[in-house]
Parts: sequence; structure tokens; C-alpha cells
Amino acid sequence: MISSHVMRASGSRLAQRIVAQATLRSATPRAVAAYSTGVSAAPRPSDRASSFATQNYGGGAGTYGIPTVRKDISSREQSDMTTLPLYLDAQATTPMDPRVLDAMLPYMTSHFYGNPHSSTHAYGWDSEGAVETAREQVASLIGAADPKEVVFTSGATESNNIAIKGVARFYKKSKNHIITTQTEHKCVLDSCRVLEQEGFEVTYLPVQSNGLIDLDALRAAIRPETCLVSIMAVNNEIGVIQPLTEIGQICRENKVFFHTDAAQAAGKIPIDVQKMNIDLLSISGHKIYGPKGVGALYVRRRPRVRIEALQSGGGQERGVRSGTVPTSLVVGLGAAADVCAREMDYDHERISRLSARLLAGLQEGLTHIAVNGPQEAGSPIRLPGCLNVSFSCVEGESLLMALKDMALSSGSACTSASLEPSYVLRALGQDEDMAHSSIRFGIGRFTTDAEIEFCLQKTIDNVTKLREMSPLWDMIQEGIDLKTIEWTGGGAH
Ligand SMILES: Cc1ncc(COP(=O)(O)O)c(C=O)c1O
Repeated sequence: MISSHVMRASGSRLAQRIVAQATLRSATPRAVAAYSTGVSAAPRPSDRASSFATQNYGGGAGTYGIPTVRKDISSREQSDMTTLPLYLDAQATTPMDPRVLDAMLPYMTSHFYGNPHSSTHAYGWDSEGAVETAREQVASLIGAADPKEVVFTSGATESNNIAIKGVARFYKKSKNHIITTQTEHKCVLDSCRVLEQEGFEVTYLPVQSNGLIDLDALRAAIRPETCLVSIMAVNNEIGVIQPLTEIGQICRENKVFFHTDAAQAAGKIPIDVQKMNIDLLSISGHKIYGPKGVGALYVRRRPRVRIEALQSGGGQERGVRSGTVPTSLVVGLGAAADVCAREMDYDHERISRLSARLLAGLQEGLTHIAVNGPQEAGSPIRLPGCLNVSFSCVEGESLLMALKDMALSSGSACTSASLEPSYVLRALGQDEDMAHSSIRFGIGRFTTDAEIEFCLQKTIDNVTKLREMSPLWDMIQEGIDLKTIEWTGGGAH
């Protein structure tokens, strides 16, 4: 099982990426087969995807059961497919749960292809029914009072754009101030920058060394002209969970709308928009074992939140998001939300155990490592599947290359193309070297114990090897505190 993850390609990073991508392109049947093996290695409580699909979505296990290795491809092709690295990047995206695929397939292949907005015939009614079921499933996952409060979008980026720009522009005659944090996802920060160019004022709250905002600083930042507070539920780089209930209460007391980007939180931790006084909430399908290209925005109806739509068109989704709703994707999002709601406790417990094992193993096998964000294993303020670790005297990119048997991320997947140290880690007060040496381990629903052991051993071995080549590591061994060294030559370290 583990050897199947070993990537044999060598050479430059780019070459490896190209090989990996080419392998991925041809890998679907084997990947799905390996994936179904992963499912059996990580048993589900209610279990057996096919019976789940038959009972709940009429997906037809007989027709759409989990595929096995295809016989129509050569053994050479199949052996090429064994070069995929072990996937440990659950914050970048999650593999689709086979039960979600089962739910979606009828809406792609059989007679359920009607436009959900066609109100004059059965094709449209069937699709509309499926879309409304999905709306109920998403609403139920987040405790929305009314499924009509859920608007389907293309993903969390679009949901965040609509929430932030849409609310700000609607209320701009009376209010022109927005509060967010320095560690939000780029799509939130860039939406705020666009609003600044339009004349809005934005406060970017700093965070503490564990990634949490200071609630007093939030209170102090609210002004009479503040219309929106946008604070993410779970950070995608360090997994810190913000105190949503307290933030919601502060916003409600001050009559300010509260938006949260819950792309990394929904389906993983309990969220109740009623109890938490959340007015707008963004969800992404591909972070919860659903399809890519679909998401949702919760928009409260009582007290009503008004939004200026970003897109002109047919007025679908209560005028908030025009465009034909993609039935199969939305059905997938609903099914994914439904599985998350049923299995959240089980997944949380399993992923917590794997994450604690990984952290304890790293701490036993290596010195001079630091967890970024909440430190302790099992911390209630860290999403267990997101473990971000810095390894002193090791460059994150070099470690990623050395760990080519694993698909990991240094910093955020969305910014890892740049060699700038992560702005999230910098916001924690992490020094530049430690920020440069960070790796994010993303553990998900289908990660197995064996994979964690493999990851642990590989990481310890490679960090040790890289440190043996580092003059800085020799200095640490000699007891020299690197912070006391005065570097010359333009700070080449
Ligand atoms: C916290 C957060 N917000 C928003 C997004 C964007 O989500 P999507 O890919 O659905 O547009 C991501 C994805 O990386 C994320 O992690």
C-alpha cells in the first residue's frame, strides 16, 4: 500500500510536477480503485457507500457502485499510476466521497437533466426538487432557520466576494467601514482592497501568536459606520478556530452584520448560524469531500441582510446569484453536507487521533520544531486535520522536494507559487526563517494510520538529512543561539 505512493520520477521540481500532473491525468481509474481501498482501510460508521446512495439518493449501487481497477487498460499504464504521492493536503482540497459521486451521477447521465428553472415540465420539476433537497441539506448542516437562506454559488471565493462586496455596496449610503483580519484568505483580503479603492475604509485586525483575534480589539474597532465584520471560522494555513459565538454576539450587540468564511470549517466543526448570530457564511464543495466548482452562501432573512448582486442575469437564487444552478454539482454539495452532518463526530475523533500521533511522533523524533498556530495536540482551538510545523534550519521548499513521496503544502496552496514567506505565519509574529521552514500536513477523512506512520518516518529521516548538511544546524548543536549572530553580506541567511 505504502509503496504505491512512492514517486519514482527524479530531476527538477518542475519536472516532478509535470510527471505528477501527467500521472494524475491518466490516473483516474486506478486512483479511484486505490481510493476505494482507502475507504475500506478507514471504515465508516454507517458504512458502505453504495447502500447509502441507494437509500438516500436513489443513486443505484448496481449501476454506479464504486469502480474497481479497469481491465481495459494495460498493466504498464496501471503501474505508471502507482507513482502518485501520498495525499496529505486536505486543506487545499479533499477527494470526493464515493457516496457523493453516487448521488450526483443520475443528474449527469440519466433523465434528470432538466433546467431546474424550467417550470413547465417534469424535467425541470425533477431537477428543481433535487436542488431544493440539496438546499435543505446545506441549511441543516449549518442550522439555518430556512433553506431559502442558502444561495448556491461556484465556491467559497464567489461566496466571499458576494458577501463582502454585496453587503458593503448595498449599505454604502449610510455605512462605509468594514472589519476583517490580516490572516483571511486572499479572496477576502482582495475583496476588501477593491472596496478600499471604491472609497470604503477597512480595518485589518492583527492576530495573536496562536492566530486568534483579540475580542477587545474587535470591540474597539467597531464604529457607527461599520456595516460588516468578516472573520474566517478556521484558518486554512494553521487551522486556528476563531470564537464565532463571541464574535457573533459582539456584532449583534453593535448591530453590525457578521460574515464568516467557513470554507475550512463547515462540515468539520459544529456550526449553528442561529446560536452564533452569523448573518452570512461561505461554504466550498471541494473542501468537504464534494465536487469542485460549487459552493454556497448563507444569507440571513431575519433580521434581513440585503445584498447588491455582483452578476446581472436571470435573477436566479433570489436575485443574489444569477445563472442556471448546476443541478449535479449542487446535488453533490448537498450529499457532501449530509455525510458531514452524519459523520462529523466520527471524522473528528479519527482525524484528531491521527493528528495527535503525527505531532507526538515528530516531537519524539526531532528537536527544534515548532507548531504554528495553536500549539498543543488536541487543542480545542485548532482543526485537528491541519497541522502546520516549522523545522528549524530546514528550508520548507527543500523539504517539500525531499518529501516528494507526499503531496504536502508549504504555506497556503493558493500562495505557494510565490517564495514570499506566508503572510499568515508572519502575522503570528513568526520570524522569517521559521516561516520559510513550514510544512502543512493536511489530514482528511480517508487518511489511514499506515499513511501517518509513513509520513512520520519520511519526515524525520529527511529533516535529519537536510539538517546534517546545514552549517546553521552545526551551530545550534554547538549551543550557539542563531538570533545572537550578526550576519554580514546583506543578510544572506
Ligand atoms: C479559507 C478559504 N476560503 C476560501 C477558499 C476558496 O475556496 P474555493 O476554492 O471554493 O473558491 C479557500 C480555498 O483554498 C479557503 O481555504
